[in-house]
Amino acid sequence: MIGVFDSGVGGLSILKALRRELPAHDFTYFADTGYAPYGGQGDAYIIDRSRAVARTLVEDHGAQVLVIACNTATAAAVHVLRQDYPQLPIIGVEPALKPAAALTRTGRVGVMATRFTVGSAKFLSLLDTLKGQAEFVLQPCDGLVDAIEAHDGARIAQLCEQYTRAMGSFGTAPGRIDTLVLGCTHYIFAKDVLVPLVGAGVTILETGEPVARQTRRILESSSLLRCEGRGRVYLLTTGSSPALQGESQRRLC
Ligand code: DGL
Repeated sequence: MIGVFDSGVGGLSILKALRRELPAHDFTYFADTGYAPYGGQGDAYIIDRSRAVARTLVEDHGAQVLVIACNTATAAAVHVLRQDYPQLPIIGVEPALKPAAALTRTGRVGVMATRFTVGSAKFLSLLDTLKGQAEFVLQPCDGLVDAIEAHDGARIAQLCEQYTRAMGSFGTAPGRIDTLVLGCTHYIFAKDVLVPLVGAGVTILETGEPVARQTRRILESSSLLRCEGRGRVYLLTTGSSPALQGESQRRLC
């Protein structure tokens, strides 16, 4: 079984790509909704929560592989979890800065992420490796995870408008931002709002498919890859189980 976790429903976007890539595998998805959002918290809180969730998935439910479907938890805790479980394959997610630097034609890339992620050492060192390759306009998006969790359409629209405006002009003309990185797994669920704000010519990057392909490579190299049959999805949460059940039906189809 592959354990997948996020602070809430955002990681379902990664789980969807994982199921498409690895249909024969069983997944257990843990939404830590009772302790979300992580993005306005500090290291200690996010590390504690990530450890508690990993313990449940690995020690209580026997996960053989762990996917951290959360940029914030990856930035804070992937190194700690790898120390805690040195034998366990652990796959994290990080904002798609490298693909964005390769794709941009104007040389300007917008990055939306949680406040924790954009200030984290892991993110800043990734940014450092790309120095000179593109200009990255970083936008912490306080409140957006909460609005997405709450299905608050008016608030999602207001925050997306505010944050895209703060980043500057989007488009394919010189000097504009032509590539937008969604550095939080929740934000893809606001894509319908973001596209009209930035324009259809802007490339929007998220990480579901690359993470799914990386997970397949790791399963292959650990001889854990299954190709026969149809896997199942099990759900765990520190929030409301019926709510997560409903979300997974909506988001995974
Ligand atoms: N989906 C998480 C991420 O990718 C959201 C973090 C939060 O709870 O603020 O960063």
